[in-house]
Amino acid sequence: MKRIAVVFVIFAAFVFLTSFLSAEEKKHEFVGVDKCKICHKKDNTHPTWLETKHAKAWESLDSAAQKNPDCVGCHSTGTTAAGELLTGVQCESCHGAGNDYKSMAIMKDLAKAMENGLLIPDSTTCMKCHNDKVPEEFRPKEAYNWAKMMETGIHALPAKAEKK
Ligand code: HEC
Ligand code: HEC
Ligand code: HEC
Ligand code: HEC
Repeated sequence: MKRIAVVFVIFAAFVFLTSFLSAEEKKHEFVGVDKCKICHKKDNTHPTWLETKHAKAWESLDSAAQKNPDCVGCHSTGTTAAGELLTGVQCESCHGAGNDYKSMAIMKDLAKAMENGLLIPDSTTCMKCHNDKVPEEFRPKEAYNWAKMMETGIHALPAKAEKK
């Protein structure tokens, strides 16, 4: 009897802890750059992103590398709920998967957007890909200079410029 009770307590604790975990780590789904573009064309972030190397990161891979799991990760964004691979380093690589924050009502409210998965990137975001796992032939010889990379690597920051 006692043993059954102990097993039950352990099981209940397990159920409690895992339910807590799944609430805490709610998984957001990727939607793809075409969704962001609808609203972020006129603020110039989408058009200027298109000019960055990130937008063309998939085209840099030859057809063999596009099928090589050792290459795909950093040259793509993720997979949508429907299973479509989002190629290139799109908005959501840096800003987080967008299905839960992309509606106007949520996007307008920065705090709410962040509760729903929006990330404001900093250099730690960049380090997910710009790190020692980049194949040596493509890795820059000099140390990473984040300030400089922020200037040249991302889209224009119109709202930030306005505040200055
Ligand atoms: C329905 C329109 C809409 C869609 C779709 C949309 N956004 Fe937004 N987004 C906005 C609005 C409105 C703001 C508020 C600031 C502004 O006016 O630009 C905003 C703000 C932002 C900000 C700035 C947050 C801050 O204040 O620093 C980021 C980053 C952002 N959106 C990323 C995205 C990404 C990535 C996607 C696609 C997954 C996306 N948005 C889709 C309308 C939208
Ligand atoms: C999902 C992976 C990923 C993330 C996250 C990422 N990058 Fe990149 N970045 C790449 C890849 C892949 C390339 C190479 C693209 C190409 O040319 O094919 C690249 C290229 C660049 C380049 C151009 C380098 C050159 O040789 O001209 C700059 C600058 C850059 N990234 C800056 C940044 C910054 C700043 C951040 C963070 C705010 C960042 N990246 C986040 C994957 C990433
Ligand atoms: C850990 C992330 C990561 C992995 C894994 C990765 N790459 Fe990259 N790749 C990058 C980044 C970041 C850059 C940009 C480097 C820079 O200039 O700072 C890059 C640059 C490149 C470039 C140069 C693009 C240009 O504009 O000149 C090519 C080509 C490339 N990678 C091919 C590959 C191939 C092939 C593989 C698989 C064998 C691979 N990468 C795996 C992150 C990665
Ligand atoms: C390589 C990483 C990266 C990618 C890819 C990226 N962004 Fe950003 N984005 C940033 C960084 C870094 C900031 C500045 C964050 C801050 O406020 O410090 C930013 C800021 C923004 C802002 C606020 C602009 C402002 O002027 O304050 C918007 C809106 C935005 N991004 C939308 C997008 C959209 C839409 C896309 C895709 C078309 C995208 N971003 C792709 C890194 C990225």
